[in-house]
Amino acid sequence: RSANSLSEARKVRHSRPGKGQAVRCRPLSALQQNVSAAAAAAPAMEASTVDYKHSLLASREDYDKMYKRSIEDPAAFWGDIAKGYHWEQQWEDDHHTHNFDVTAGRISTEFFKGGTTNIAYNCLDRHVKEGRGDVDCLLWEANDPGTERRMTYSEVLAEVCRLANWLKAQGIKKGDAVAIYMPMLCELPISMLACARIGAIHSVIFAGFSPESIAARILDCKAKVVLAASAVKRGKKAIDLKSMVDKAVGFASRDGFEVEKCLVCHNTSAGGGKEATPMKDGRDVWWDAEIPSHSSECAVEWMHSEDPLFLLYTSGSTGKPKGVLHSTGGYMVMAGTTSRYVFDLQPGDVYWCTADCGWITGHTYLTYGPMLCGATNVVFEGTPTYPTPARSWQVVDKFKVKQYYTAPTLIRSLLSSGNDHVKAHDRSSLKILGTVGEPINPEAWKWYSEVVGDGRCPIVDTWWQTETGAHMITPLPGVFPAKPGSATLPFFGVAPSMVNEHGKAIEGPGEGYLCIKQAWPSTIRTIYGDHDRYETTYFAGFKGLYFSGDGCRRDEDGYYWITGRVDDVINVSGHRIGTAEVESALTLHPKCTEAAVVGYEHPIKGQGIYAYVSLIEGEELEDALKKELTLTVRSNIGAFAAPDILHWAPGLPKTRSGKIMRRVLRKIASKEESQLGDTSTLADPGVVNQLLSNRP
Ligand code: WT7
Repeated sequence: RSANSLSEARKVRHSRPGKGQAVRCRPLSALQQNVSAAAAAAPAMEASTVDYKHSLLASREDYDKMYKRSIEDPAAFWGDIAKGYHWEQQWEDDHHTHNFDVTAGRISTEFFKGGTTNIAYNCLDRHVKEGRGDVDCLLWEANDPGTERRMTYSEVLAEVCRLANWLKAQGIKKGDAVAIYMPMLCELPISMLACARIGAIHSVIFAGFSPESIAARILDCKAKVVLAASAVKRGKKAIDLKSMVDKAVGFASRDGFEVEKCLVCHNTSAGGGKEATPMKDGRDVWWDAEIPSHSSECAVEWMHSEDPLFLLYTSGSTGKPKGVLHSTGGYMVMAGTTSRYVFDLQPGDVYWCTADCGWITGHTYLTYGPMLCGATNVVFEGTPTYPTPARSWQVVDKFKVKQYYTAPTLIRSLLSSGNDHVKAHDRSSLKILGTVGEPINPEAWKWYSEVVGDGRCPIVDTWWQTETGAHMITPLPGVFPAKPGSATLPFFGVAPSMVNEHGKAIEGPGEGYLCIKQAWPSTIRTIYGDHDRYETTYFAGFKGLYFSGDGCRRDEDGYYWITGRVDDVINVSGHRIGTAEVESALTLHPKCTEAAVVGYEHPIKGQGIYAYVSLIEGEELEDALKKELTLTVRSNIGAFAAPDILHWAPGLPKTRSGKIMRRVLRKIASKEESQLGDTSTLADPGVVNQLLSNRP
């Protein structure tokens, strides 16, 4: 598909989301049932200030002034900021428009209309031209300690150009989609940048997704070229990635779509020679055989600000994963600006984001944002607890990492390993510590601050989403006090609105659904190929507002406390998993007739996956069947979506109209059966006792 067909997709006759299609979310009273520890401990928590001097903002007043202008005059505010980037063609004065109201026409967002730029140019060429070509761009650390690779900005630029030329030689042009299935090698951000350089839309698929999931993503965007790697080692385990791609390409072919070329990067750190990787003649080629012969110079494709940059699939409460589409100019400016302000990132700063480029965090805060700032990025192939929990701090000391950005799940897991592995390392290079992906409990927050940060590093708890593209509610280090467990205040240009179930804004302290009132530069532009679904998912629930799917509280200081998802999305170790997807995977097993999946509180992962399964007559949930069901989910979605607990449900609690009462299932999963609430509307109240009597 080309960029043209995207605009065609947008032109499709516009159907208004009808009644009953409105957003599905838990009622507010139920919010409380899902509150994380962070929110439960909320407003009484003391504010904490550490001595940190932000390089751009001297005080809270500076923030307030800038924030006010960013909301009142976003076009002028972002226009001034955008001047710090290279634009081939200047945007128009009146460059920003948006409509978030489904009753007022098509939902749309535009920033820097009329302008042309290229994000890869701004990430690489700009620094080289300004004399920073010899600054390290990527510091790669292999899974096994002892192997590393350094690439300067000039070197990365040259490799990006070679790959871009190869892509062009395959016939890839502006608007074509390219799929990327790679572990954390330098070649992963390089692949993304090469696509961006020539205006191809990249679709990175986390190298943990199963062949079925890869195939679905390839098919959705018709990616003719796949950039892949042979294998990866994660911890002790070597994983063959190329065979996953082969299967996926086979599935796509079964559905009538042929992948034409697959470029394979031989990952020597995973062990094994090239002979271990079967290659299909004519289709599969090796990176090291192809790329070096291409020129290290490649002209930039100047992109209109609203041209698509990338697609990234994410789970929603219903149906198949959605292809979230981000466009060029606004995404670039917001990725760079949040990186600059939130991490106080400056050229040459050694920065480490532990996220994988397969998720949005790796897009915005590993590839694009830090490179827009000219920072030095650590790219880590392995798992931060291998071979020991001290690995993170060894890497921090080795590269003298200044900003470190990770997820609460890792913090909790490191906390559970005690303090010695931390204290044995120097860590004096650390200046700012970040967290993202799920609510962080105050205990983990304090450990992060006091033990990892020795009480001298500000913590930035950044709330945002795949759809928002960049930080939305986040502390600014040293600018205002933080509170353990609170994402604090909105970033520039972000106008949160906390509403009740009728969409009425709640002023002052309280609790409600977290919405955003006006467009920010990196607003999701559409769901690829399905603008109607985009409007229904995000804008039909509350008139004139973008609905995040999260609940929140706001305290008397105006600080936000994210309480977690209020829809049927579970957040496992900071990864979003749609309950509907896991359910449909489970029912693919011939012995499973029905499944209902809910989240439950998990001490390390934040939430775990709890699956109730109904089986065909005569079957019981024995260990062998549990294994098979788990395998079905692993092979259909990926290992990270495998249920933690399987609970045999001869019957599921349903209303008389056949709707599963998830509230009841959530209570049973979290062992709170004393608070089941009203079950009188159940078609068969007896199923509750049945479920309680056969707890796994
Ligand atoms: C969901 C988005 C955005 C990067 C990684 C996840 C949850 C994200 C926080 C935070 C509390 C958070 C929300 C959100 N979330 N950051 N700092 N505090 N919750 O991206 O996969 O799109 O998931 O992650 O529930 O809706 P994602």
